[in-house]
Amino acid sequence: MSDSVVEIENLWFSYGAEPVLEGVSLTVTRGEILGLIGPNGSGKTTLLKVILGLLTPQRGTIRLFGQELRRFRERARVGYVRQRSWDFERNFPASVEELVRLGRVPRLRWGLWSRADTAAVERAMRAVHIEELRARPISELSGGQQQRVFLARVLSQEPELLLLDEPTAAIDPAVEAEFYELLAQLNREQGLTILLVSHDIEAIVKQVTKIACLNRKLLFCGTPQECLASDLLERVYAGRKLVQHQHPWG
Ligand SMILES: Nc1ncnc2c1ncn2[C@@H]1O[C@H](COP(=O)(O)OP(=O)(O)OP(=O)(O)O)[C@@H](O)[C@H]1O
Ligand SMILES: [Mg+2]
Repeated sequence: MSDSVVEIENLWFSYGAEPVLEGVSLTVTRGEILGLIGPNGSGKTTLLKVILGLLTPQRGTIRLFGQELRRFRERARVGYVRQRSWDFERNFPASVEELVRLGRVPRLRWGLWSRADTAAVERAMRAVHIEELRARPISELSGGQQQRVFLARVLSQEPELLLLDEPTAAIDPAVEAEFYELLAQLNREQGLTILLVSHDIEAIVKQVTKIACLNRKLLFCGTPQECLASDLLERVYAGRKLVQHQHPWG
């Protein structure tokens, strides 16, 4: 059995005339935590949407768990937290617990709730510390609290591949640190494979096993150490990130 969870070969995608992804090839293997970086508008979210089958590429092949994407039906194995979920779903008419339970629905057998399903929902809420918010309407929570609810929702699904698009953008540093610890634990103990988009390069180089840098084309794919040793970040961000944080890699 192949060990690759995501296999992308020579992928081309455009919304209009201009390509947004040009000849991207990338493999994510089981148990990897891949950090996807790149400037605004470089195609990161687009790439995730293509992997999820939400957008159809003009050229290229994608395999998930060894199966061609067109034939892939085991959606419950892939979890996704979209960028700025809290912007799009803040008025979702449900309580915290109801929303987290929705994440579990793809895993139900014959549409019935078992004890294991309820336990997965409870574990997910505990993992991001939202048990005490369970009865509150989503719309009444702060942005960061909402983001934790969306994370709990995807965790309750118990995916094998988790796609996260800037998952910590609205949460405070303490929760962020715990969140990365949680990802590392799920990765260690359950072999969860993670593809994580982030602009917080400083944080993710410590969290990931591999870094990929996208700017329409895939500019780099290697270990965090190789990434830091190269001039990639200077080239791609034209020094901006380096100015922002004084001693980012020191
Ligand atoms: N629905 C759409 N229709 C047309 N163009 C789009 C659409 N979504 C994105 N684009 C364009 O595609 C390019 C890549 O966008 P994408 O959202 O994938 O970038 P990104 O790397 O996720 O950026 P960010 O870091 O800002 O989230 C951008 O030039 C964007 O304007
Ligand atoms: Mg994006």
